[in-house]
Amino acid sequence: MSDISLKVNGEERTVDVEPSTPLLYVLRNDLGLRGPRFGCGLGQCGSCTVLVEGVATRSCITPTSGVVGEITTLEGLSAEGELHPVQQAWIDEQVPQCGYCQNGQIMTAKALLDQNPYPTDDELRRGMNGVICRCMTYYRIQAAVRRAAEAMAETAAGSGGTGGAGSQGEEVGP
Ligand code: FES
Ligand code: FES
Repeated sequence: MSDISLKVNGEERTVDVEPSTPLLYVLRNDLGLRGPRFGCGLGQCGSCTVLVEGVATRSCITPTSGVVGEITTLEGLSAEGELHPVQQAWIDEQVPQCGYCQNGQIMTAKALLDQNPYPTDDELRRGMNGVICRCMTYYRIQAAVRRAAEAMAETAAGSGGTGGAGSQGEEVGP
């Protein structure tokens, strides 16, 4: 066991774990952050996604000792009681069915829009690729990403909105 320091959702945390312990286990079991989910445990489904320095990262296959930079989990997206535009869009579009995959969908969408605020349908599909939804909520996911992009563009413009977040209607799938 070793003391490992992590910065999670803006707070410095220290955990005493085996260095190879997957980050997902530490977040859920040691830090009580239940946003990231255990799905496959093999880096294949995306349910466990968190952001490390803004990059979507599969925490089930990330050794805790190997994490460099700030970690953001689903719990860290909202600020001062305000939902992040991606979270609000997920509510507005009523995306989840069983909900199990949705942490990964939301965190991946956040990383995508931070990198590319106006993704084309193809870029959106590729950006969300590999985050598996067993309930097939892909159409609603796409609508929510589009809605979030519009909201973020409006915020960036100050008021009135700029539009330009691309077209709608193409399927998003794994
Ligand atoms: S649980 Fe991490 S990718 Fe499936
Ligand atoms: S909402 Fe059920 S797995 Fe995606």
